[in-house]
Amino acid sequence: MTYLMKNPIALRKAQEEVREAIEKKGFVKEEDIERLPYLSAVVKETMRLQPPAPLLLPRESSQDCELGGYKIPAKTTVSWGENPEEFKPERFVEKSIDMKGSDFALIPFGAGRRRCPGINLGLVTVELSLANLLYAFNWEMPVGTKSEDLDMEVLPGVTMHKKNALLLVAKKYVC
Ligand code: HEM
Repeated sequence: MTYLMKNPIALRKAQEEVREAIEKKGFVKEEDIERLPYLSAVVKETMRLQPPAPLLLPRESSQDCELGGYKIPAKTTVSWGENPEEFKPERFVEKSIDMKGSDFALIPFGAGRRRCPGINLGLVTVELSLANLLYAFNWEMPVGTKSEDLDMEVLPGVTMHKKNALLLVAKKYVC
C-alpha cells in the first residue's frame, strides 16, 4: 500500500483492473486472482524491493568480484533490472518470471529444496488482501500529509516490519 500511495499511476491501474474484473460482485475471491495480472505484478515488484523475509534478500557481495564486466566491491548490495530502485510493476507484466525459484531473478520465497513450503498460501493471502483493499476503498493521505513524505524504513528482524505505521484514510467505494 505504501508503494502504491507513492505511485498513484500504479494505484489507479491496479484499482481499475480489480474493479473492472469484479464489477458489482462485492468481494474478491481466490479464484478471481488469476484475472488480476497487474495486481500480481504489483506484489512481485513490492517483494523485489522489500522482500518480507530479508535474511535471504537483498544479497551483498562478500568479496570483490567482477560480473558481466562490472567490478563489484565487497559489501555492495546487488539489485537487478532497469532502474532497480524504481517501483515499476510493468517490469513483470506479460513476463513469465515466477516466484517459485525457477527464475533466480526473483526469489522472495527462496529457491531449491529449502524453498518456502508456504508459498501458495503466503502469496494468495497477500494478493487477496490487497485486491480487496483496492476494490472496496479509495485511499487518501490524512489531511496535512503528503504521499511524497511516506517513508520505507523497516525495523530489523527476521521478517520485515515498517518502522513507521502507514496511516491512510479509507473511503468506501460504492460500485
Ligand atoms: C508472503 C509470505 C511468505 C514469505 C515471503 C516467505 C518466505 C520464506 C523464505 C525466504 C524462506 C527461506 C527459504 C530458503 O531458505 O531458501 C521461507 C521458509 C519457510 N517458510 Fe515461508 N514465507 C511466507 C509464508 C509462509 C507460510 C504462510 C508458511 C506456512 C504456512 C511458511 C512456512 C515456511 C517454512 C516451514 C519454511 C522453512 C522451510 C525449510 O527450511 O525447509 N512460509 N519462507
